[in-house]
Amino acid sequence: MKLRFLFFLSFSLAFGDDFITLKEYAKMLYENPRGISCKECHGDNGKEQILGYYTQKDKQVPFVVPDIRKLSFKEFEASLKEVKDSKSIMPTYSLTTNEIIALYNYIKEINKE
Ligand code: HEC
Repeated sequence: MKLRFLFFLSFSLAFGDDFITLKEYAKMLYENPRGISCKECHGDNGKEQILGYYTQKDKQVPFVVPDIRKLSFKEFEASLKEVKDSKSIMPTYSLTTNEIIALYNYIKEINKE
């Protein structure tokens, strides 16, 4: 028991806090959350995307995924916490508030660079 504790302790000292940075963690979440990657639909940095076109009354209509770079945190969080209806192609995620904060900051940060 004691040995195991020491093992964990040395592990967390060696790889602890800065094993991955917050930004790396958030990037991982953005690209590989529990579910389909945000990147599949929102692109590398969250700007508006056209996923494809569909035909409606003989017209080509683009399927637009909105820009998610300029939302307030409230709007961003609301969208990720709501249960999506069948009209939305965006999946319903079950992310924690901390995960949503990390994602929000990540999108803000990569768009500053
Ligand atoms: C399968 C495609 C798809 C995936 C994957 C996806 N989204 Fe979306 N997202 C959409 C679409 C389409 C909308 C537009 C609103 C709707 O249809 O619900 C949207 C809307 C949003 C909005 C609200 C935008 C607004 O203007 O209110 C946010 C925030 C958002 N997505 C963030 C994310 C994040 C973060 C992830 C990953 C955890 C993600 N999305 C994954 C397609 C997707």
